[in-house]
Amino acid sequence: MVLLLPILDLHAQDALINNIYGRARQSLNGTWQYIIDPYETGYYNYRWQERDEKDREAYWNSDVPENKTDRKEHGYNDQYTLNVPGDWNSQKPELLYYEGTVWYKRSFDTPMVGRNEKVFLHFGAVNYRADVYLNGKKLGAHKGGFTPFNFQIPKGMLREKENFLVIKVDNKRFKDEIPTINTDWWNYGGITRDVHLVRVPSTFIQDYVVSLKHDSNVKQHTAEGWIVMSGARTGEGVVEIPELKIKQPLKIQGDTIRFEVKLPGVKLWSPTTPKRYDVVITVGEDVVKEKIGFRKIQVVGKQVLLNDKPLFMRGICIHEEIPEQVRRANGVSDAVQLLNKAKALHANMVRLAHYPHNEKMVQVADSMGILVWSEIPVYWTIDFTSAAVLDKAKQQLQDMITRDKNRASVIIWSVGNETPVTPERTRFMSTLVKFAKAMDYSRLVSAALEVHNVNGIQMIDDPLGEFTDIVSVNEYLGWYGGLPSDCRTAQWQVKYDKPLFISETGAEALAGFHGDSLTRWSEEYQAWYYREQVNMMKRMPDNFVGLSPWILNDFRSPRRNNPVYQEGWNNKGLYDHEGKRKQAFYVLKDYYDFVEKNWQTKPLVKRKKN
Ligand code: GCU
Repeated sequence: MVLLLPILDLHAQDALINNIYGRARQSLNGTWQYIIDPYETGYYNYRWQERDEKDREAYWNSDVPENKTDRKEHGYNDQYTLNVPGDWNSQKPELLYYEGTVWYKRSFDTPMVGRNEKVFLHFGAVNYRADVYLNGKKLGAHKGGFTPFNFQIPKGMLREKENFLVIKVDNKRFKDEIPTINTDWWNYGGITRDVHLVRVPSTFIQDYVVSLKHDSNVKQHTAEGWIVMSGARTGEGVVEIPELKIKQPLKIQGDTIRFEVKLPGVKLWSPTTPKRYDVVITVGEDVVKEKIGFRKIQVVGKQVLLNDKPLFMRGICIHEEIPEQVRRANGVSDAVQLLNKAKALHANMVRLAHYPHNEKMVQVADSMGILVWSEIPVYWTIDFTSAAVLDKAKQQLQDMITRDKNRASVIIWSVGNETPVTPERTRFMSTLVKFAKAMDYSRLVSAALEVHNVNGIQMIDDPLGEFTDIVSVNEYLGWYGGLPSDCRTAQWQVKYDKPLFISETGAEALAGFHGDSLTRWSEEYQAWYYREQVNMMKRMPDNFVGLSPWILNDFRSPRRNNPVYQEGWNNKGLYDHEGKRKQAFYVLKDYYDFVEKNWQTKPLVKRKKN
């Protein structure tokens, strides 16, 4: 059962509204005007004091001179425009490496707010900090580059014509943020995801979940769920699943109603049969609709069971990037393109590295039957000693779970990646694991843990493994240290009696560069690496439940500066910058075909000896 332990009171004015795509909304995507402001002149005066709300030189105030003598030193016009959604780095050459503030502005008309109506301004994500101003008034500020947020627009602030909407976006990196100052991915800034006005009745469904009850081996499945209302304490409601002829009345007492619904004849969701049902929740005047798949994911002993059958995850890691256009991915067509590439590999799972991807990526995975590992960017050297940083991580974790808890494809919440083992770090990360499980114990919780080599033994005794449901590690035996042939003698030792998942393994190859297998950066070296790794996977301990090699596509990183073989790209992709397959692609695909044929999916049966 998905419990709810929000940090924020869910009735806070700006608590996240679930499933805006299932609601009345007006898109504010499109062409926005912008000002590049590296010195934040629009925010601070020349004495570096924050400008008052009415300050005429503030960039959130009108840029129109009052008369021919009036001095305005800022302005928005169609000579300077950016597309929203979209990162700024890929849209303007002068912004490729830019880290700082860009002001976005657009005007819009909208019907007046009804008496029994609330209007929210909702962002899919802005990287990294957004300060939002409407008609010269501050609506709010948000930090975090990969999770949605919304602000309720106070009555009287909206007008029917020419609303002046300004967003200050700042993608500078800071040590005490999530992620911190060093990452192995491009710091794409901007309003990178959809922007909407969302209209709801003044009493509305704030949040809800409908998931398969975890009682096992039943003849008759049951769904359980809850609804959290905003603005209501009593009321009538109904939850409907038309295809199953379900129409169950609900009684709203207080702000949260829990319910159970029998699911006669329900077809469970799985990678082979990604069946989803229209679920319609009506309370009072509010109606939300969503396609939901019902499935069960559990750890039993050393196995992961999907719908009571042992699961082997044939995964691949993916960054939220379209390398062919060197830009952040966003929307349905990008999701289809990326997930089809994973399907071509015969993958049944994707690890969405290293941050929550856009909402459409997970929705498309739901429809295509691809399992998802979703992660917050608690990456490498976060400030684990800071309570404020822990709260930021919790907020991002809560927002990720709030947004995607109705997605059957999401089976693993990950609280981070490759964080260095210290007592503070393990306290910080185990707190996140417990927080994730308290919010949602219907899924597995993990993180990419540390592994170290002790006299040829790949030793996994990371203390965080005590807390996670599966033990996941990134290993690069033969790329970062040693040669791929070292895989032949590698032994694995896991301190925990839990499923073992290899959350990363990979090697770089510059597509089209050829040599013998010992030639670093050649496609032959990468293919050799995968052959040796695959042979090692075939003799992993019996708790081995899958892998997600690093990575589907070559991707941009400011850390990769070999002037011949990298040039600001991390080339560990199985597909190159143009989407062409490298030799290693076929090595992994053959292994996944082998696993698909030889993996026993009968309940709790061991794999055939291969
Ligand atoms: C690490 C890290 C990735 C990084 C990869 C690499 O494991 O998790 O974000 O890109 O290794 O070195 O290529």
